[in-house]
Amino acid sequence: MNSLLGHVTLNLLIFCVLFKVAWSYRSSGHSHHTGQNFPFGSGNRDNQNCPVPRPFAPNAEQVVDNVAYECLPSYLRNPNAVLDEDDGTIEWAGGRQPDYTVVDEMFNRERTIIHPRGSMEDRIQNLMKNWDKEVRYKRNPKQWIAVVPDNFYMIVNGGPRLTLAEISQLGSYNVFLGNSEFYSKDYINSTASDAAFSTALKSGFALEVLEVYSPPPRVALRFRHWGHMTGPMRCPMRNGTWLDAPPHGGVVEFYGDTVLHVNEKYQILSMENTFRGDTLMEQMVLGNGRVNNKVDAGSGSWIW
Ligand SMILES: *[C@@H]1O[C@H](CO)[C@@H](O)[C@H](O)[C@H]1NC(C)=O
Ligand SMILES: *[C@@H]1O[C@H](CO)[C@@H](O)[C@H](O)[C@H]1NC(C)=O
Repeated sequence: MNSLLGHVTLNLLIFCVLFKVAWSYRSSGHSHHTGQNFPFGSGNRDNQNCPVPRPFAPNAEQVVDNVAYECLPSYLRNPNAVLDEDDGTIEWAGGRQPDYTVVDEMFNRERTIIHPRGSMEDRIQNLMKNWDKEVRYKRNPKQWIAVVPDNFYMIVNGGPRLTLAEISQLGSYNVFLGNSEFYSKDYINSTASDAAFSTALKSGFALEVLEVYSPPPRVALRFRHWGHMTGPMRCPMRNGTWLDAPPHGGVVEFYGDTVLHVNEKYQILSMENTFRGDTLMEQMVLGNGRVNNKVDAGSGSWIW
């Protein structure tokens, strides 16, 4: 009982300290900046009372922020911020905005968790969805808001550090799937790979963040990626022959873990992903929910 009370008192103390810090932060000169150089996209440009976030201390471990929901960057509040904030000057691959309507509908219908608005899961899920759109479709890195392009790198399953240019050149499926029994990035370019997957997964391949394990600056999280195999899959396999898998109509999905390194605006500095690389293709070939347990199937292979 005593220790419980001590715990409550300590929590109260921590709360008061944080509140005081947040309060002095809000009442500091930073609250009266003009909108035009606001770093958070246009989503909250009209809110003059939002504090400008301060860079994290060099070795900051876990940052507790008390930023009001309305003051969060738009890309943490709206999964389509980078589309909605297009003022007509954005340079899109293919000359026009990508259409996420169908995959968004599937996401809203089939996600397994609805996170509370503004929760860390909600913020990070929105961040990842904006990141995905920028990396895939925004041609000019200067127009990106969810990522700091300069020194960005991504690692997949302990592989090499990939720059944004390399990711965009290889294509996301090639980067994520690499080489396995039923898929090979070595015989297909990014355009053809994207086309193969959008033929097989007609309603798209949705991403949900299941849980966030740690707050900025190093955000560790668990994700789920899923779609429905409603079309045929044709792609090269590791042995160089081509796979022709007829549609089975069922769900194909995989789970994985990501660590994002973000700055004080939650812009992504780097991203490391780990997941079982064979699972998606095995489910396409072997059927809904089925995976090979053979060790020699190529599990976890990331061969460059
Ligand atoms: C990608 O590969 C396809 C099919 O082999 C080919 O038609 C297309 O020209 C290639 N695109 C690029 C940009 O190399
Ligand atoms: C290539 O790999 C696939 C999938 O394991 C297999 O079915 C096929 O027989 C292989 N082809 C050759 C020529 O080894």
